[in-house]
Amino acid sequence: MRRVLVLDTTLRDGEQVPGAKLNLYEKLEIAGQLRNLNVDILEAGFPSSSPGDFKAVEEIAKKIGGKMMITALARAVKSDIDAVHDSVKHAQKPLIHIVLGTSNVHVEKKLRKTRDQILAQGVEAVKYAKSLLPDVQYSTEDASRSDFEYLWETIEAVVKAGATMINIPDTVGYAVPEEFGDLVRRINERLKNLNPNVILSVHCHNDTGLATANTLAAIKNGADKVECTINGIGERAGNAALEEVVMGLFLRKDYYQATTGIKTTEIKKTSRLVSSLMGLDVQVNKAITGDNAFAHSSGIHQDGLLKSRDAYEVIHPEDVGVKEMEIILTARSGRHAVKNALAQVGFNDYTPEEFEQIFAEFLKLADAKKEVYNHDLFHIVKSTVKRNNTEVFGVQELYELVDMQVIINNNFPSASVKIKKGNEILVSSSIGDGAVDALYTALREGTGIMLDLLEYKLNSISRGKEALGRVTIKVSYKGKDYTAKAIDTDILKASALAFVNAVNMAVVEDMLSKQGQMVG
Ligand code: KIV
Ligand code: ZN
Repeated sequence: MRRVLVLDTTLRDGEQVPGAKLNLYEKLEIAGQLRNLNVDILEAGFPSSSPGDFKAVEEIAKKIGGKMMITALARAVKSDIDAVHDSVKHAQKPLIHIVLGTSNVHVEKKLRKTRDQILAQGVEAVKYAKSLLPDVQYSTEDASRSDFEYLWETIEAVVKAGATMINIPDTVGYAVPEEFGDLVRRINERLKNLNPNVILSVHCHNDTGLATANTLAAIKNGADKVECTINGIGERAGNAALEEVVMGLFLRKDYYQATTGIKTTEIKKTSRLVSSLMGLDVQVNKAITGDNAFAHSSGIHQDGLLKSRDAYEVIHPEDVGVKEMEIILTARSGRHAVKNALAQVGFNDYTPEEFEQIFAEFLKLADAKKEVYNHDLFHIVKSTVKRNNTEVFGVQELYELVDMQVIINNNFPSASVKIKKGNEILVSSSIGDGAVDALYTALREGTGIMLDLLEYKLNSISRGKEALGRVTIKVSYKGKDYTAKAIDTDILKASALAFVNAVNMAVVEDMLSKQGQMVG
């Protein structure tokens, strides 16, 4: 099986996204996580663009490198190549990456030179880079719109000048898979004849949503290396998403006869880090890293999955570092899914009549609320099944938000909450750095459960004045992470409910583990 190399350019092409600028420490954190992900080559920046970028590349090369190759981008001019060399030379395995266009529009209109002049400039640049370092990559910018013979003439000349990697970019996302695959195959045949040690690479942009497909077509046709970004971020519509290309190969190695060295279980963590540090949300239905990528809401699918996971799951969430598939309880969920969720909250012992009553109540709530959570089921069971709660669940009660008040001002944002647990009423007030902070501190103190907030996300999920806000939080309690959601027209109330939901998840889980210990 062929091993395809992966270059990650999140910190160079990805960081070009408007508003996604990172500071030095954030870049170092992402670079460290890319090393955990086991990428083969990390493109750390464009050092001639600014002193800050130079410093970041230099620090990454000094502190992060290891067996991962570190590179940075240079135009085919001496000063850019010097900046790359001076910044990457500290790495154990440094690489200089040079880019120069080969299409007519680049040669004639952008660079305003003749083809011969550009070819000579490229050769000179490679020779100079080669005098500094043994490993040099040459990118023929806009290759997919270039005249094939001129493209090949350029590749041949720069390989003879010492380039060790040739990168074929689909700079503007113009390529289509069959044609791009064919281009790669033709270049590969000639290149392997010319020098079998030179690595053939591709770099695809996503302007028509084909970046992953084009990259995979290139692999099928002999590409030895692919350039990607995490979550597919990058210039305009972005670059080929690393997680999609890697998992595409992982799933269909039988077809591609190729694998990567990526540690796939680090994918979700890397995606979250890039998304939160760059402030770029991942589309919920994004392949592999979107929130819904392993969530199932159709009743037919839920039933199939509960009978056999492979009915609707080709990639296991654990393979990409997602804890488990998610069965979302909605009005479309069937009896099988609801029984499964009841078992998760520790309730297995019901009569058929009791279950039908629970299911009817569940449907009413699901119609009103969109999504039903496990602790909602607890309340349904509590109000439907007329038995002692301790007997039913092994736990007396969950928390309920009764009332809240939040005061927002410049000096002391503050919050007061009233929470119910069984017959007990708990009240608490706090100030905070902002409204949500004050609210969460009051809730922590009120419940006495010290959850650490790891992530807070607010999305608008409908339009108009009555718009619904969905708050998703990730919290940690006793070293375990829980993700809880809540929906409301009032975003502060949604924030409080998400917190209470997370507390209840922890309580239910505590209760289940105690039951397990008792049984064990
Ligand atoms: O899109 C592109 O052509 C590039 C090159 C620098 C590889 O980003
Ligand atoms: Zn690019």
